Amino acid sequence: MARRKIIAGNWKMNMTPSQAVELCNTLKDLVVTDEADVVYCVPAIDIIPVVEAVKGTNVEVGAENMYFEDKGAYTGEICASMLVDAGVKYVIIGHSERRDYFRECDCLLNKKVKKALEAGLTPILCCGESLEQREMGVTMDWIRLQIKSDLVGVTADQVKGMVIAYEPIWAIGTGKTATTQQAQEVCKGIRDCIAEIYDTDTAEAVRIQYGGSVNAGNAAELFAQPDIDGGLVGGASLKADFGKIVNYK
Ligand code: PGA
Repeated sequence: MARRKIIAGNWKMNMTPSQAVELCNTLKDLVVTDEADVVYCVPAIDIIPVVEAVKGTNVEVGAENMYFEDKGAYTGEICASMLVDAGVKYVIIGHSERRDYFRECDCLLNKKVKKALEAGLTPILCCGESLEQREMGVTMDWIRLQIKSDLVGVTADQVKGMVIAYEPIWAIGTGKTATTQQAQEVCKGIRDCIAEIYDTDTAEAVRIQYGGSVNAGNAAELFAQPDIDGGLVGGASLKADFGKIVNYK
């Protein structure tokens, strides 16, 4: 069965609540499509107004992060049940900015993935290598380690419903996209890794996105690759261009 494409915006730390609603209104007619799932992953404070603003459209809302505990004394954190109650369907876990600036390790990310799944959220689990790692020739070893560690204790059925985003760190926000071949090669490598850990059915079902300087000009070629099931889009998700990315064909 063909995998349905999923194209998600990652707004990062952009858009005040009122700007967020304005952006939703600007994009509303531009992101209409029957062919892909469309998601806006937005800052926590924008979740409630954005859920309201996209009501009745084809857009679902995602969070950019969450904590793995159920509730309690974790000042500043947000738990899965809060996201679910607010109408969130997806959550980005392990973005390289969180791994790097906030020191999130695979052991923590594994707990977050399991909690998100348990709560009925779809994790968008991010992985990706640095430029140094690519130049040393250890890209796939590194990504396999991330995937394997982040999925400890996650069942095949759960993985089938998940999204994995391959984002080479050197391509994020730099305007330097991975070549179509590089992106396809790693996304296929991730699928092979899932087949090894689980089975081919699971590998065929899991959706794998490419992220890193995706724009209206390169989306069509990237998303046409056999193992690339859409994109996680940063900068270009904040502009009308996101409509062109969603309707890339
Ligand atoms: P970018 O960001 O599209 O601005 O490179 C992608 C991401 O970090 O998810």
